[in-house]
Amino acid sequence: MTPDQALPPYFNIHPDDALGALGAPTTTQDFARIAKACEAGRQDLASRGLEDNGQRTLRLFSTWEITRYLIPVATGHFRRVLKQNPDLPQGRSETSGGAKWFTFDEVLRLRAHFAAEGSKTKEYLPYRPAGQPAKLVAVANFKGGVGKTSTAAHLAMSAALDGYKVLVIDLDSQGSMSSIFGGKVQDEWQTVFPLLARHYARHLQGDNQRRLDRGEAPTPLDDTLSDALKTDAHSLIQKTHWPNIDLIGAQLNLYWAEFQIPVWRMAARGWKLWDALTDSLDQDGILDQYDVVFLDTPPALGYLTINGLAAADILLVPLGASFLEFDSTGRFFDMLHSTFGSIEEAENMAARALGREGLSFQWDAVRAVVTRFDPSQQAELAALMQAYLGPTLSPHRQGFTALIGQAGEQVQGIYEADYRDFNRETYVRGRETFDATYAAFKQLLIGSWHRDVQATNAHAAE
Ligand SMILES: Nc1ncnc2c1ncn2[C@@H]1O[C@H](COP(=O)(O)OP(=O)(O)OP(=O)(O)O)[C@@H](O)[C@H]1O
Ligand SMILES: [Mg+2]
Repeated sequence: MTPDQALPPYFNIHPDDALGALGAPTTTQDFARIAKACEAGRQDLASRGLEDNGQRTLRLFSTWEITRYLIPVATGHFRRVLKQNPDLPQGRSETSGGAKWFTFDEVLRLRAHFAAEGSKTKEYLPYRPAGQPAKLVAVANFKGGVGKTSTAAHLAMSAALDGYKVLVIDLDSQGSMSSIFGGKVQDEWQTVFPLLARHYARHLQGDNQRRLDRGEAPTPLDDTLSDALKTDAHSLIQKTHWPNIDLIGAQLNLYWAEFQIPVWRMAARGWKLWDALTDSLDQDGILDQYDVVFLDTPPALGYLTINGLAAADILLVPLGASFLEFDSTGRFFDMLHSTFGSIEEAENMAARALGREGLSFQWDAVRAVVTRFDPSQQAELAALMQAYLGPTLSPHRQGFTALIGQAGEQVQGIYEADYRDFNRETYVRGRETFDATYAAFKQLLIGSWHRDVQATNAHAAE
């Protein structure tokens, strides 16, 4: 038989051959073996991008990149200012007379210098109203693989490059965001879990006080809750290889929260679990120490996601311009409506009975964002989505780029890649698409801060 006459491969499979190739049945123990093999491979891969001390390091930044993307000064002026100020970081070059390279710490010092000494008409430091708390940004969609983590990580890096102090909170037990930022998380006690537990424990303490006042026996706090009461958010925060990005990481055990939270809620119906994250961050002063907090969420509308969404000021919903992603994003919004609607309804019934003010969730801005956009294939669908979603869909589409996802062994962002490893044009275009995503986001950020400032002023003038 010639090759085109050969039968497709699913004909004539002999049962003896099939049995021979099958191997022994798989047991639960085999999963442990497979998991171990994956873990060993993962460590091998992860260690290839690390320094000898096992840490991730951030690459250096050249004069070209600094003056093109980070500090808005002409290259000549930049060089003159450095020369006139020998105390400022002078950078290092690989060849004599070659381009000067700076660490990001040095870039931050240079930016502070220009902000203090340079022209007041230029924006050296991004808008950040004094006295306002950090803005919380959740990136969520219950559909998997739509670009939540990539979007959140890139926004965190662009905000950091822009000069903001950033906290990243990983609410996904897959821990992808934690890997991107080199987080080391032993167990659930190094995730947000203890903050949620502490919030519940404090609620129980309040309840118990009321019970005691009524002469009833208090509900005992178990070990988990007693330990949680001793936790402070600062002890959960890790430094990353970015000087102005910190992390509260996640790992598999965080998934336990999805089982634990409903049990707590059943035991104390009055516990406002949706306030747990915001209250805890606020009580520990975290919102005054950062400018922007990014929350990466798992592909599910579970309790952790609900906490993240309820805590968020700005909600970004990434989705690809494909029928399936559009379809399931519609259902995601439907679920948001019924989930938050039913929380409000239940609360407001209780509030009315007690003559208290009701609960009404509110977000500064909610935007769907098209990710991994391929204009040659998806323009029509994206236009249709735009027509139906209107201003809810951010008009900027984040292009598909070969620069992310395959930059070496390490999970890396565009902002972490050395542009010399790529064709300059590919780099510039890839970076443009994430810079534009950031610009669209920064517009929301500044707008919502400004609205808060105006509200504060109006309140003060009353
Ligand atoms: N702009 C882009 N261009 C090319 N590839 C991209 C882009 N954005 C994301 N990807 C790739 O798409 C895949 C899914 O992205 P990502 O992990 O960010 O999605 P996710 O929504 O966080 O997934 P999960 O639901 O599993 O948490 C990754 O392989 C990522 O590298
Ligand atoms: Mg993700």
